[in-house]
Formats: sequence, structure tokens, C-alpha cells
Amino acid sequence: MSDASFWKTNLLTHRPSLIEDDLSAARGLPNAAYTDRDFWLFERDHVLAQTWAALAFASEVSETGVTVPIVFMGLPLFMVRDEQGRSRVFHNVCSHRGMQLVCESTPSGLTIRCPYHRWGYDLTGRLKATPNIGGMGVHEVAGFDCGQHGLKEVRSEEYLGIIFINLSGEALPLETQFQSITQRWQALAGDDFSEILVSDPGESGALELAVNCNYKLAVENYCESYHLPSIHPDLNSYSPLAQHYNLVVDNVASGQGTHSYDLGRGDAPPLPVFPHWDNERLKTGEYLSLYPNVLLGLQADHFFAIILTSDAPDKTRERLQFFYAGDDALGDATLARRQSLHAAWSQVFSEDISVVEGMQRGRASHAFEGGVFSPVMDVPTHHFHQWFARGYQ
Ligand code: FES
Ligand SMILES: [Fe+2]
Repeated sequence: MSDASFWKTNLLTHRPSLIEDDLSAARGLPNAAYTDRDFWLFERDHVLAQTWAALAFASEVSETGVTVPIVFMGLPLFMVRDEQGRSRVFHNVCSHRGMQLVCESTPSGLTIRCPYHRWGYDLTGRLKATPNIGGMGVHEVAGFDCGQHGLKEVRSEEYLGIIFINLSGEALPLETQFQSITQRWQALAGDDFSEILVSDPGESGALELAVNCNYKLAVENYCESYHLPSIHPDLNSYSPLAQHYNLVVDNVASGQGTHSYDLGRGDAPPLPVFPHWDNERLKTGEYLSLYPNVLLGLQADHFFAIILTSDAPDKTRERLQFFYAGDDALGDATLARRQSLHAAWSQVFSEDISVVEGMQRGRASHAFEGGVFSPVMDVPTHHFHQWFARGYQ
């Protein structure tokens, strides 16, 4: 555990200005929230642990018995899909002597074997085999109850093609917590929109960028459209800042939307739109930072999600997947359009690297103390800081 009391005291000191509703009086998070490793561990164990955080795409554990190691802010975990088709997440450590249980992505069959002394666990984490525990050829021993030594599972659920974890096990049910987003986007994209999403398994279906910044700076940058003219002149030419609006969704997300997403841009044949999308809003695009670490984009003909994987206080991987409206959207006929979307979004997210890394460098300055907010343009960013500040009590 990190030194919780120090950071709790530190943050409680800043809290009034972080949760201040008057943006002209509010301040942002202190530099340590972006730079300090102890803060980062405190944040994992005492802020993010209380909520649902994104871990991976569901497609990464597509088959029963495939085990995938993954690290969440320094915490070793692994994912597996069980015999019922449910993805599960466990702490990646053997109950015997603490060996890392899953060291590489591999098909494990129905038994997960520790590489050290070959103890075996089933796909629900129960300890099923303890070879030679009582001496050579003796696989049981008096007083040792396998039922007491299973793997430690992490609460997890899937939503919008993403596996979320709740480390404390105490958050609201995921579907309750994200209900307002579901309702908002069902009103726009149709009740069935999340059910018909298919991820594109091809080369144009994914993107990964490594950025030298704290993941929260990627969240904050995604919250606002204020920087469009200066950082994304091309995007601003077809989806200008004046066509954007701020978005704040209860206590779970914020971001921005546009009235001028252009479905017909380019020469490539179009993609199918979501079948029950609101016809009056075909040019609407909405871009939400789903707290704490997912960036979402929804348009009439595609959806994307970016998982922000925080590898260190100043290192983040942005892992993006594209999703479309049903299997028909993935055929050869739409490949050119999917490729052009991949190219366009790759350009936009690459353009953002210089500013998120520049803000990270700025966090080394003693002259910066959380900064100030535009009362008009920074409303969604401030909302994220309020959410963060309310996450520790
Ligand atoms: S540490 Fe895993 S079986 Fe010994
Ligand atoms: Fe941007």
C-alpha cells in the first residue's frame, strides 16, 4: 500500500478549490498528481479502486482458456475467459510461493499451471492440483484445504467491448454507474447500439500510441475542443470549434460533441450507419472521457474507444479500437472507408501528443499550482477534477 495518509492530507488541503463550482475561483490538481510515484499508487489504491476502471478490450480474451497477463498501474493481473464465456480477472500470483502465475499470453486449456511447482487452477480460480505437496507422488496432505487457497479474483464486467475492473469490490454495479451514458447514447444511436457493435480485427481496426505523460492529461485534453484550431487545423476545417458543444454526464464522464461530423467525407463508399440512429442528428459526433481512463467517440457510422493504460506517472499507452454497426460493416466494400477513418483519427491523436507531453513537462515547474480554467471552454475538464477530488473522502 502507498503512503495513503500523506497524500490524503495533501489532497484534502487542495480539495475545496478542486470541487469549487465557480470556475473562476477553481484550481486544478497539484503537480504531484501527475509526477509522483507515491501519489500514483495512492491514486490506484484509494481513488481508482473505488470505481470501475478500464483494463483491456474484451476481444483480447476472445476464447475460453486463453490467459493474458496485464499490469494495472503496477499491479500484476491476468485475464481469462471461463467455460461459460465470461471474462474474469485475477491477481497474477500463485497462492504457493507467490510466483507470477501467467507470464505470457497463452492458451492454458482448462487448467492454469504455475510454472514453478506446477500447482493448477481452474478457469474460475479454484485450486485443483497440488502435485507432490506431500512428497513425491503424494498430491494431498493432511490439513491443507485447496478450497482456502484459490486465486484472488478482481471484480470485473464488460461494457462497450471493454473489460472494466473494480479493485475494491465496492463500487455500484457497473450498469448502474454507467446508466446515464447508456441512456444518452441509446437516445442518439438506438437501443440496440451497444449490442450490434463489432470490433474491426483488421489492421485498420486498432492503433496504439505511447505518450510521455500522466494518463489524466490525456483525459483532460480529450475533454475539450478549445484546442481544435491550434492543434488540429485539418479537423477544425471540417468540424470547426464553433460547431462543438460541451458535455457533462452526471458524475461519470465529460467531453464535447460536434454538430458537423461529415459522414460523406472522402470518396470511399460509405459505411452502414447504426440502424436506429436519430435521423435528425446524422452529423452529431460525441466524444466523452469516461472517468477515469477511457476515451470514447461515437458517430453514426462508427464508434471508437481508447483505453489509457498508465504504465508510470509519466508514461501512458493509448490503445484504440474501432467498432462498427454489425458484421456487414467489416466487408471488403468498406475497407477503404475504414482505412481512411483510421488515417484521419491517427493524425488527430498524433497531433495531441505534443500538447499532453508539453503539459507533463510543465508539471515540473514550481511556478504552476494547478492552473486556472476558462469558465466557458474548460467546463468538462474542471468536471473531471471535481470527480477526482470527490473520489477520496
Ligand atoms: S509458486 Fe506456484 S506452485 Fe509453487
Ligand atoms: Fe485533440
